[in-house]
Order: sequence, then C-alpha cells, then structure tokens
Amino acid sequence: MFITFEGGDGSGKSTQLQLLGKAFTASAIPHVMTREPGGSAGAEAIRKLLVSGEADAWDAETETLLFYAARLDHVNKLIKPALAEGKTVICDRFADSTLVYQGIGKGLSGEYIQALHRLTLGNFMPGLTIILDIDPAIGLKRAASRRGNETRFENMDIDFHHRIRAGFLSIAEREPQRCMVVDAGQGQETIHKTIVDIINNKLGIHV
Ligand code: TMP
Repeated sequence: MFITFEGGDGSGKSTQLQLLGKAFTASAIPHVMTREPGGSAGAEAIRKLLVSGEADAWDAETETLLFYAARLDHVNKLIKPALAEGKTVICDRFADSTLVYQGIGKGLSGEYIQALHRLTLGNFMPGLTIILDIDPAIGLKRAASRRGNETRFENMDIDFHHRIRAGFLSIAEREPQRCMVVDAGQGQETIHKTIVDIINNKLGIHV
C-alpha cells in the first residue's frame, strides 16, 4: 500500500509520520518512510532549489516541472521498487500538494498538472491519503518555530495558506474513497490513534 500524508505547513505531518513509522515497526510491518520534494538523491538535490530562496524565485509552471522531475525520480528509484518488495510506503506529501500549492495556490490550471501527471506517472496514485487539516494561523506559527531556511512557501501570505487548506478539503470531498481528513488541531496522541484506526480499517490489519 502506498500511503501519503498531506496538509498545510505546520499541520504536524512529520510528527505523525514518525509516530506511524514507530507503530509499523512495533507491529513488524515492512515499510519505508519518505518525503516530497525529495526521497531519492536526485529529488533531494531538486528539493534544495524549491524550498529555499525568494517566494517569487520560480513561476508556477516552472516550479511544477521541477516538482514533477523530482517526483518521477523518487517514484522510479524508491517508491515503486519498495512496493514491488511488498513494503508499505509512507510518504510526506505527493501529487495532491502540486494540485493544491501550484494549482489552487498559484493559479496553474489543474488540467495542466493532471496532464503532466499522466505523462510522467500514468495513473500511479496513493491508495490512501491522510489530510491533516489545521487553521493556517496555527500551522504557520508552529512551522515558524522550527524552521531553518526552508521557508519559501511558508513566506507566502495568509490568503495563500487559506486557499491551500480549502484546496486539500476539496480534493477530499472529490475523492472520499482515497482521502481521509483528520482534525490536526487535536493532541498528537489523539491524532495518531485516529490515523491508526483509519489504516487498520482500510488495510484490514492491526497496527
Ligand atoms: P514540507 O515543508 O512538507 O517538507 O514541504 C516543502 C514545501 O513544498 C511545502 O511548503 C509545500 C511545498 N510543495 C509544493 O508547493 N508542491 C509540491 O508538489 C510539494 C510536494 C511540496
């Protein structure tokens, strides 16, 4: 199973990914944890270009091509081989982030992004996506307290981050089979338990 985590900046994805990874290890479920942009050597090199520097360093179309170059490398070198070995792959962000940040956030057409996805990855998509939903004012405060120089997207204005939140919620409405929304304003342990329940139900396992 390919599982992704999505949500706005500071929604607590990384913490929840770590907690889920520990739970999988404790239950001896073979898995790989990874992230986007990044996850393979080539994609991590592209990440550096994308997440630091000035907010207007790239226009939406160029940025999207860079995200997809990174994604193609990541899928071919890490995600697909791990799935072929029978491992569950847990990934921090994936294609929904491009639809939301570059599409809804920056105004690139959804058709363009979906066409690029089809050209590069066909219909390859996660089986389950957990969307951590949080008020951007809270998320950005959290993100600011721990970040180094990876602030390019966090530096966008608050309206941008409200559009991002609404964008993820609209994907969840459109694809209720794949996407589960979790209230990320709750305590870490409560969120973790909710996620474990979702995964147990979806995969028919007991983590
Ligand atoms: P991270 O903070 O979750 O590591 O992600 C880095 C930033 O990259 C985050 O602000 C969201 C942004 N991003 C996009 O704009 N489009 C994408 O396709 C992905 C994967 C991330």
